[in-house]
Amino acid sequence: MEEKQHIGQLFNRIAPTYDGLNHGLSLNIDRLWRRKTVQKMAPAKQVLDVAIGTADLAIEMLVRGKAEQVTGLDLSTEMMAIGEEKCAAKHLPVEFVLGDAQKMPFEDASFDGVTCAFGCRNFSNLDEGLREMYRVLKPGGQVTILEFSYPTRRYIRVLYDFYFTHVLPTIGRIVSRDKTAYTYLNRSVKSFCWGETFVQHLRDAGFRDEHFEPVSLGIATIYTAIKW
Ligand SMILES: C[S@@+](CC[C@H](N)C(=O)[O-])C[C@H]1O[C@@H](n2cnc3c(N)ncnc32)[C@H](O)[C@@H]1O
Repeated sequence: MEEKQHIGQLFNRIAPTYDGLNHGLSLNIDRLWRRKTVQKMAPAKQVLDVAIGTADLAIEMLVRGKAEQVTGLDLSTEMMAIGEEKCAAKHLPVEFVLGDAQKMPFEDASFDGVTCAFGCRNFSNLDEGLREMYRVLKPGGQVTILEFSYPTRRYIRVLYDFYFTHVLPTIGRIVSRDKTAYTYLNRSVKSFCWGETFVQHLRDAGFRDEHFEPVSLGIATIYTAIKW
């Protein structure tokens, strides 16, 4: 099976328990990270939220008035179905599109802003995904990305490693009843690049004026950059 299909199916399987596990396992810190990510966004009319999943980032940016309309792209129909319900209940203008971040079904320069929360590390080819973000963004537009990183302090690293190696896969397996999904998530977090290395990928994709800010002692990082 193609890797993209595999990822889409994996998220389809865990979709019903995704939000509960996210908020529960992070003690709601993931909500604070998304809020901070939205604070760093430049206000934009039309925003593309890549790997929108269950739409928590899209909801946050619309509620805070940072975006007027959001288009969400994702490989998982089940994640988006949950997102769609949440947005409909709040009467928020979000359009959900099934598709691959590495081959987006959008014209060049069609969005004023692009965002992505916890999506990039799932791409089979990060550079392809970032180049696509660059392509669909209008000149002057900002990309804002939230992704897991690696804490710099040693004692936090020990806790982080224990959490991602033991706590997350075990609780994830029990609650989602999926044997492999949360082991995959653990692997994807640990093998992914962060900080200056991630910034270099943004530069290679064509972005400039890059900034990054670690949050919660480096457990996650928010990246911003501009298309010139
Ligand atoms: C960890 S979830 C993050 C969802 C949401 N952004 C959030 O903040 O909770 C990752 C999402 O990325 C999607 N995804 C993974 N690879 C993708 C790709 N190549 N193209 C589009 N979506 C992708 C998955 O289907 C899943 O919904």
